[in-house]
Amino acid sequence: MTYNIAIDGPAGAGKSTIARRVARSLGYIYVDTGAMYRAMALHILHQGIDPKDADAVAQACGSAEIDIRYEGGEQQIILNGENVTGELRREEVGNTASQTSVYGCVRRKLTQLQKELAARENVVMDGRDIGTSVLPDAQAKIYLTASSRTRAQRRFLELQQKGIEGNIDEIEADINERDYRDMHREISPLCQAADAHLVDSSDMAIDEVTDAILSICRGAGCC
Ligand code: DC
Repeated sequence: MTYNIAIDGPAGAGKSTIARRVARSLGYIYVDTGAMYRAMALHILHQGIDPKDADAVAQACGSAEIDIRYEGGEQQIILNGENVTGELRREEVGNTASQTSVYGCVRRKLTQLQKELAARENVVMDGRDIGTSVLPDAQAKIYLTASSRTRAQRRFLELQQKGIEGNIDEIEADINERDYRDMHREISPLCQAADAHLVDSSDMAIDEVTDAILSICRGAGCC
């Protein structure tokens, strides 16, 4: 039997930072499913396909071989034999991923990969539909959120640290648009699973959020 922890929530809620820390504390593997959707988006961008063109996306989906492997505990995404991990965090890739993740062909392919991983290993998996659709029997489910202003502020600071000037209102508008699309798509929209614990990190430090989630996981029998 494997232990599975599902962490879902909107863009910029801090899921990957927290999930990585929780996984390290428990000795589990961290699975970033957003990176898989981003790899598929990158494949579609490389081919110059319009994300609104459902037939072209379906065709591209068939020619994308996505694999996941770990180097020094860090997830690497291999797209058709090439390690594309370093390219996935770009804004354009994230926005395209939000658009192309609405398609059934994309979701079926990536969901299968995610379920196979979770059946083999103890995982902390983050995404949008993990508790509701990918791992409905996960031992612990967390819905991690924060206000859109807080998430925009965090993104603004992140950009500033990289020497990039951002406009906080534009960042917040982008976040709201992405939330709307992720929450209103037809297949597996982002929502809190009925049995998920809600954690609002708006006024919490990273350590506090990590401790709160670890205590939920331990309470659910994960060790
Ligand atoms: O978490 P992220 O920003 O890396 O995700 C990028 C996009 O991928 C997100 O806007 C929606 C999609 N996604 C999804 O539909 N289901 C998941 N489990 C993870 C991400």
